[in-house]
Amino acid sequence: MVANIYFGSSEQSRESVGKRVNPYNGEVASEFVTCNADDAKKALNIALLASKEASKTTIAQRCSWLLDVASKLAQNKEDIAKTITDEVGKPITYSRIEVERCIETVTLAAETMRTMHGETVNTDAFASGKKTISFFSRVPCGVVVAITPFNFPLNLIAHKIAPALVAGNAVILKPTPEAPLTAYKFAKLFIESEFAIKDALSVVYGDADVGGTLVTSEIPRVISFTGSVGVGEIITKSAGIKKVSLELGGNAATFIDKSANLDLAAQRCAIGAFVNSGQVCISLQRIYVHKDIYSEFALKIAEATKKLVVGSPYEEDTFMGPLVNDEAAKRAMEWVQSAIKEGATPILEPRVEGRVFYPCVMADVKEDMAIVCQEVFAPIVSLIEVKDFDEALPMMNNSPYGLQFSIFTNDLNLTKRAINELDAGGIVINDMPTLRFDIQPYGGVKLSGVGREGPRFAIEEMSEIKSVIIC
Ligand code: SIN
Repeated sequence: MVANIYFGSSEQSRESVGKRVNPYNGEVASEFVTCNADDAKKALNIALLASKEASKTTIAQRCSWLLDVASKLAQNKEDIAKTITDEVGKPITYSRIEVERCIETVTLAAETMRTMHGETVNTDAFASGKKTISFFSRVPCGVVVAITPFNFPLNLIAHKIAPALVAGNAVILKPTPEAPLTAYKFAKLFIESEFAIKDALSVVYGDADVGGTLVTSEIPRVISFTGSVGVGEIITKSAGIKKVSLELGGNAATFIDKSANLDLAAQRCAIGAFVNSGQVCISLQRIYVHKDIYSEFALKIAEATKKLVVGSPYEEDTFMGPLVNDEAAKRAMEWVQSAIKEGATPILEPRVEGRVFYPCVMADVKEDMAIVCQEVFAPIVSLIEVKDFDEALPMMNNSPYGLQFSIFTNDLNLTKRAINELDAGGIVINDMPTLRFDIQPYGGVKLSGVGREGPRFAIEEMSEIKSVIIC
């Protein structure tokens, strides 16, 4: 099946197609129409016209639209989950979880929009404001460009397009070339809905040429991007005066205190480090462990890791499938080998078969090794022994990223210190940092990005405040 372009509601197929290879079995998973800068310009002009119409629609219509999509998604759950697995190698059980999450994200965007409200402003508290009545409300921005990644190829689209559309904008989606069919099938549900706003959603595929045209154009008022820091920097420099929302990754850390429940900590850390083969922006990469329980914890996490089922993403009990492509597997092995050369010790030996990189636990690491200080985006986790939280804290914060951190402890004072002193967009107490509820504000500080997702927060990012004074 070919993922066609949507120029607004009009679907277009072409001879010229790109191919996406299934990262597990090497077969062609999908094909997609290749786009160029002219296609991007066409989508922009259609979106501009559509945004004017979208802004005149009622919230009731837009909510019905999203709820209809959520219900169709539920009816197509198995097909979309299988497409995710074919395109990015996510184990089928986790692809199904992603579809469930996506249904919730879309539903939540509708429910949130229904109950969002402005505020009155006390301009009559000023002498010159006598007898005035003031308030502010939210209005659509116009055109939103959404650029999405491969690691959650469905739900991260939902986190951008559902809030944008329900807020009354028109959207151009440029999904990852690694999962074009997932995006196409999802977009089709929006576009073919009986409640759809005509031309309010377009979908184009492509690389820097297409992305650059969308980002630098004066038409969009919002760019919402999830991906690498490098591309995030280019977008920031080239977008001009418009809202830019960036979710750029992290290198999440946790601290295991001697008061923690070690069995729970080891089991959850193994999940947090290796789920989705480490290809999660909040994947657990650095584990700082109190010296009194270091050896015991190291044994426990090794045991928990050995129990994880690795292999075919099509088996129901598989926990971890392949990395997204050859380059990712090659880079992961290079980084681990370079760390070993510099003195690191593998507790579980690195092993790769095709694109399946087995979970790897490393000890004796140094802070400047790539597996510690950069975003690994692969199933590699490092254990670091520390005297106490005082020693761990500056090491955890010594990162260009700040997306999510966690701490395992039963000490209330340490809990409070973690909340106050860890420098990240999110702090988790007594679980892995790899924890996200779709209702939450999600985003980071430092190189992890700008802005927050989660329906309420994304609707705020994708709307403008309009202030009214009645004199
Ligand atoms: C991400 O990788 O940033 C998304 C994580 C998630 O939605 O669970």
